[in-house]
Amino acid sequence: MIIKPKGTYDILGIDAKLHTYLNHEIENFMINYDYELIRTPIFESSELFHRSVGEGTDIVTKETYDFKDRGDRNLTLRPEGTAGVVRSLIENKLYGNKNDCIKLYYNGTMYRYERPQSGRNREFTQFGVEVFNSNDPMIDAEVISIGYNLLQSIGIDVTVNLNSLGDLESRKKYTEALVKYLEPNIGKLCPDCQNRLKTNPLRILDCKVDKDSEIFKNVPKISAYLSDESKQRFNKLKQYLSILDINYEIDEQIVRGLDYYDENVWEYTDENNIVVGGGGRYNHLVENLGGPSIPAVGFALGLERIIMNLKNNIDEEQLKNNIDVYIMSINEEEKINALRIAQNLRLNNIITEINSNNLSMKSQFKIADSLNAKFIIILNNEDLNKGLINIKDNVTKEEIKIDEGDIVDWILGNI
Ligand code: HAM
Repeated sequence: MIIKPKGTYDILGIDAKLHTYLNHEIENFMINYDYELIRTPIFESSELFHRSVGEGTDIVTKETYDFKDRGDRNLTLRPEGTAGVVRSLIENKLYGNKNDCIKLYYNGTMYRYERPQSGRNREFTQFGVEVFNSNDPMIDAEVISIGYNLLQSIGIDVTVNLNSLGDLESRKKYTEALVKYLEPNIGKLCPDCQNRLKTNPLRILDCKVDKDSEIFKNVPKISAYLSDESKQRFNKLKQYLSILDINYEIDEQIVRGLDYYDENVWEYTDENNIVVGGGGRYNHLVENLGGPSIPAVGFALGLERIIMNLKNNIDEEQLKNNIDVYIMSINEEEKINALRIAQNLRLNNIITEINSNNLSMKSQFKIADSLNAKFIIILNNEDLNKGLINIKDNVTKEEIKIDEGDIVDWILGNI
């Protein structure tokens, strides 16, 4: 037997239902917020991720799926969505109108070679949002609110953990202070952090291994190193979030695992302390990838982590199939009519299922019940010859005969 690769999952059963439900909610949200869908390739040139996510990051050093295609090109399965969207923005010159914000969203699979564990897969799905061409913290608030409101609307109570990484200058000063503080004690941290001290000191604050180390108790705080402009930008964001009733907390440990961020960054943390999403501003990435200087902000949510949360809380009854009509048939003539009537109902937005396995009446009733059918159409040749349809309310068990021409209106009026 051939089995699925480690860290991947077949999405089926309840998970598939929850994915469908989530996709539907996302589409509706994005219509109301007036964001446009973008789909970029699942593989891109490896260089794109090296230059955006960053050479020294865990994602690029340990987690990418890299391969050469038959034309000897270096390609990588996308570990995240932002880089591809920025590449596409530049390549397609989407920034044509300088005055307009470009508001995009995506929903697709990403790939990271991580050690599989709960909430950490090698193939996973991100819903993400990226907004280009506005440097106003009001847009940061709008973007944060999309993730927050979406999660609240599906019953997941999240806190937005907020931080400011400041501008390049603030970050440089802070990094110097951090290195000075950590250097004498670096031997007490994990080997990765010992390397990070040279390559990417900020990332030490985000280390999953050392997160409870005593060393961090008196670590310098980034807030003390922010420029006036960064401080003002952060304060404005907090003000806007309060106006939008968004539950946020300041968390100076949040540095994010990708190199392109500056200024405001955040993570969405659920009631079980699982980080279900994160994002931030990245005002230099478009330029660094060869485009014009265009400010940007965005976030991504991990759908599998959201589904993990939903599965703990949702009433499974809610996820059961709920059809409107089950059509029963016994002989060939009834079967042909069932097929014809089912098509008519389905084309009129009535969720319909038919007997498709030549089952006995008893088995068909059982299936109708298991599908929670509201109505059962019990076909018989005698009624059909008179143009009548026998329909049974599967809750009250009442049966009536209806003219076939009236069946759609009758069902729509009664479901
Ligand atoms: P990220 O924090 O690396 O950000 O990922 C966002 C979310 O994707 C995580 O919070 C998590 O829910 C989910 N995720 C990440 N890795 C895995 C995994 N191995 N298994 C399951 N879920 C996972 C980004 O990717 C940025 N591109 C977000 C962004 C967009 N920033 C600006 N725009």
